[in-house]
Order: sequence, then C-alpha cells, then structure tokens
Amino acid sequence: MQQNRGQWQSTAGFILAAAGSAIGLGNIWRFPYVAGTNGGAAFIVLYLACVLLICLPYLYCELAMGRHTKKNPVGAILKLRGGGPWTLVGALGVLTGVCILSYYGVIAGWAFGYIFKSFLAPSMTLGDFSANALLGIPLFAIFILMTVLVVARGVEKGIEKAARVLMPMLLLLMLLLIARGLTLPGASKGVEFLVKPDFSVVTMTTVLAALGQAFFSLSLGMGAMITYGSYLPKSANLQTSGAWVALFDTGIALLAGFMIFPALFALGGNPTAGPPLIFEALPAIFAQMPLGSLVAAIFFILLSIAALTSTVSLLEVPVSYFVDDRRWTRAKSVWVVGGAAFLIGLPAALEPSSPALQSISLMGATGFLGVMDLIWGNISLAVGAMLLCIFTGWVWGFRNAGAELREGGGMTAAGVAFWGFFVRFVCPLFIFLVLLSLFPLGTRILAAFLG
Ligand code: TRP
Repeated sequence: MQQNRGQWQSTAGFILAAAGSAIGLGNIWRFPYVAGTNGGAAFIVLYLACVLLICLPYLYCELAMGRHTKKNPVGAILKLRGGGPWTLVGALGVLTGVCILSYYGVIAGWAFGYIFKSFLAPSMTLGDFSANALLGIPLFAIFILMTVLVVARGVEKGIEKAARVLMPMLLLLMLLLIARGLTLPGASKGVEFLVKPDFSVVTMTTVLAALGQAFFSLSLGMGAMITYGSYLPKSANLQTSGAWVALFDTGIALLAGFMIFPALFALGGNPTAGPPLIFEALPAIFAQMPLGSLVAAIFFILLSIAALTSTVSLLEVPVSYFVDDRRWTRAKSVWVVGGAAFLIGLPAALEPSSPALQSISLMGATGFLGVMDLIWGNISLAVGAMLLCIFTGWVWGFRNAGAELREGGGMTAAGVAFWGFFVRFVCPLFIFLVLLSLFPLGTRILAAFLG
C-alpha cells in the first residue's frame, strides 16, 4: 500500500512541488491587481504580516496532518477521528479541488493561448479573444489535458519532476522580464509604488483582502498541503520546509510586482485596472517595446508554467482521495476527475460569449466564473481553513500535531507552545473575520464593531 502512494525523492523536491502549487495565477495575475487596487506598498506590508502570523502557522497544521496520516484530506480525518462530521471538512476539500480546477483551468487556458496570440494577433482584446468559444474551449481542454498527463505519471515521476524542470525556468524568465522593465526610463515610479507605503489607505477591508489573498496564494484551506505533506518521510523537517515554501511563494509574488509595475508606470498604464491588468494593460505595454511580441510571449509562457504546477496540485487532491480511499488506480482517477473538472468548467469558458452566464451574480460577485471563485476560491477555502485549524488545535490536539512537527529535527518544544497558541486562538479568529467579510451581513457586523 505505502509504496504505491508515492513519496518525494527529496525534501528539496517537496519544497519545489509545494512552491509550484503555491506559485500560480494567484501570484502573477491576482496579487499584482489586488495590490494595485489596494494601495501598493501598504497592502504588501499587511500581506507579509498575514503570511508570517496567520498562514505559516496554519500551513503547519496541514503538513502535520498529512505526514502523520499519510493520507488525502478525507483519509487523514478518518484516520485521526475514525469518521464523524469532521470527515465532511475533508470531503469539502476534495470537492473544492475539482471546482477551483474547473475555472482556474479556463483562465490558465487563456494564458496559454496568449503565448501564440502575442505573435499572431497582438492587438486583439481579451474580450474578443475569450468570447471566441472555438479558442476558449480547446485551450481549456489542452490545459486540463497537460495537467492530467503530469498527475498520471505519479508523485515522483510526474509532479516532482515537472516542478524540478519548470520552477527554475519560471524564475529565470521572471528575472529576464524584471530586468527589461526596470531598465525602461520612468520605471522608478513603479518601484516607488511598491516600496513606499501610504497607510492612510488601509482599512479593515484591506487587511482581510490581504489575508484572503495570502491563503489562496499559499494553496491553503482545502488540504492541498495535507496531500503534499503526506508524501514526505518522517526524516523531513516540516518547520523549515514549510517556511521555504512560504518564502518562495511570497518572493515570487513580490517579484511579480516588480515585473509588472515598473513597466506599467514607465509606459503610462493604470495600476488599478483590476482583473484584466495582465491580460490588457500588460500586452499594451509590451506592444510599445522593441521585440514586444517576444517579451509578451515569454511573459505568457511564464504564466502558463506557474499555472500548470498549480492545476497539478488541484487535481492531485481529489486524485489522492480516489487512490487512497476508493482504491481506484491513479490512471482512472486522473481521467475521471480531470473530465469532471472540464465539464464543470465549460460554463466558465463559455461565459465571455454568453450574456446569460455573465448576468449571474451572488453577493457582489458577477458572472459564472466570478461566482465560482467566490464560492470555492473564497468561501469554501475560508470555511475549510477555519475548521481544519480548529480540528488541529482542539480536536486532534496541538500537542499531538506538535509531536509530528518535532519529528525530523523540526520544531522545538518552545516552538510548539508558541505555535499552539496561534493555532488555537489567533488563526481561527482571523480566518473567521475573513469569512464574515465575504458576506454582506458580515460586512455590516464588522463595520459596526470596527468602525
Ligand atoms: N496557489 C495557487 C495560486 O496562487 C492556486 C492553487 C493551487 C490553490 N492549489 C490550490 C489555491 C489549493 C487554493 C487551494 O495560483
């Protein structure tokens, strides 16, 4: 049994794969536009605090659960509790993996298509591009297919190997584009935007937006890190490995800022463009540069690489459930789950050409894709993270979880005590506030208490 589950070949392989999961559209597409609309540097300072004080302690919960049980999120809770309602939290994680994959794959498909569009139709708008279902659907299918092919090859030969090849490539391409952006005249205004905080723009909403972004970016809340942690041997040091993953993810998000804003400011773009920032503002910027099509193609190759190592982790969570607990073969699991994600994602791919799908709205989110992201990418992750945190701190118990963190020369006894305080009190409270802020009534309650 244990052998055919798979295991990382080395701790470095785990760190790369987990960083690959974390580093994705969230870092390169979402982080820059959320930072851009929330004041730049001040948002970044809050973001760093959230990663360190809330996300990192929570990440250790998932890693401890995974390595201790050697299971997927459902199997992990079954093993620790022997059934009961807590198992539903694991099931929510598995379902969330399929659902996030479904719309994330659509956006990833656009990023992939933009590589070729950079040469073939540089002036086509995102609206025209995505409204063409004959482009959107095949691109989405190709992206799901690439994900399926990586995950089908298993933990070491598929996921770990892909991360070993793709992550260094990603970093190299990013450094290339940062150098290009920083050497443009006027780039320093973009740098200033990223490093000179103006705290007068910060509100409670900014803090909660930063925390939500940090959770999504680190792939937390649905047990992806339970699953990846389950392939780690006892000899690995969870404390340092987890810290490396958080460091890489945060580093790449910041680098994405330095890749985008200096070029944007130098060529007169608008930092508060919102979601279309990298699909519209950025290509317009590239078009003004010498060799612009090549620079744009490099950017979208880099974005596709980042997205692929993330979709791989979204697929691996449900796949590991079917392999561990339903005894399906890996091959059957990847095709069934990948196929399901494709079907669930079809409306998201069709939305740009369908007024009916665009008119869907829920609690401030608009369009099918926006509503899916609200339900699965925001609410479900916050609910999952809060409950998994409470589960680790209070049900399994922070001392038991702490014993797992101490294995492999990991955390010290004092470290466990400190961590236990965060996991039992601080993290659940802050995650609960994020959850409240997602609901209109909750926003009003927060406003009444916090002003
Ligand atoms: N973290 C990835 C990103 O930033 C997305 C992602 C992959 C994810 N796996 C996840 C988000 C699991 C939440 C949970 O793009």
